[in-house]
Amino acid sequence: MNSKPDVPWPQGLDPARIPAHVAIIMDGNGRWAKKRLLNRVRGHEKGADTVRTTVRTAREIGLSHLTLFAFSTENWQRPKGEVTALMALLKNFLLTERREMMENGIRLNILGQVHRLPDGVREAIARVTADTGHNRDMTLNLALSYGGRTELVDAARSIAEAVAAGQLDPSAVDEACMADRLYTRDMPDPDLLIRTSGEMRVSNFLLWQIAYAEIFVTETLWPDFNREEFLSILRDYQGRERRFGKVV
Ligand code: FPP
Repeated sequence: MNSKPDVPWPQGLDPARIPAHVAIIMDGNGRWAKKRLLNRVRGHEKGADTVRTTVRTAREIGLSHLTLFAFSTENWQRPKGEVTALMALLKNFLLTERREMMENGIRLNILGQVHRLPDGVREAIARVTADTGHNRDMTLNLALSYGGRTELVDAARSIAEAVAAGQLDPSAVDEACMADRLYTRDMPDPDLLIRTSGEMRVSNFLLWQIAYAEIFVTETLWPDFNREEFLSILRDYQGRERRFGKVV
């Protein structure tokens, strides 16, 4: 569903083949700031503006799931001042975007170790996830204090506990059983993984879920990423042949 019927449908984009789920590794905020002799935090602030426009574009073209890697488990090791600034930006983003999420039917969902986040961020998350919980047009997943291996270890532990308690037979452990214990339970896997700023890495992001994702790496630094480039990557995706390991 196009949330903005007054905006013409993007040229060359097939509305029948919009991916169900796009995941983005937002990288390059620090380099964007360094190039301008600015503090890294300025790069994150500009990056937060890009998050806003990217969510709008996703909603405009009717994407049902958008997942953004906003803070990894490794990011806790950054200088304290940068972590504090990132947390403040996140809280501000959640509280200021709440209204637009409500107006556009966007449900907020968090992937990651919410318990490690500061009180203020957790309170904002609790409020916005509760308020937007019934929205159905798009799910915005923010990966916060997220690590793919930790997610898989937690799922494995939960299966082991169910087996030990006699609730699950080992022979019944299958892919669906694992998927059901991930943060992305009940969601489609990403069809497309985008990474900005040129690094050819998946950085512990959605390790299970990206098994068959198409990958697109752009040299653009996240703060410079815009609607046009997002649409152009989606057109590129639509031109690819997805085989899922089969011969077609
Ligand atoms: C990578 O840039 C980006 C991050 C670690 C955090 C992403 C955060 C934002 C986009 C802003 C706030 C987010 C939201 C959802 C409001 P980097 O610092 O690793 O850049 P570098 O590799 O160039 O140093």
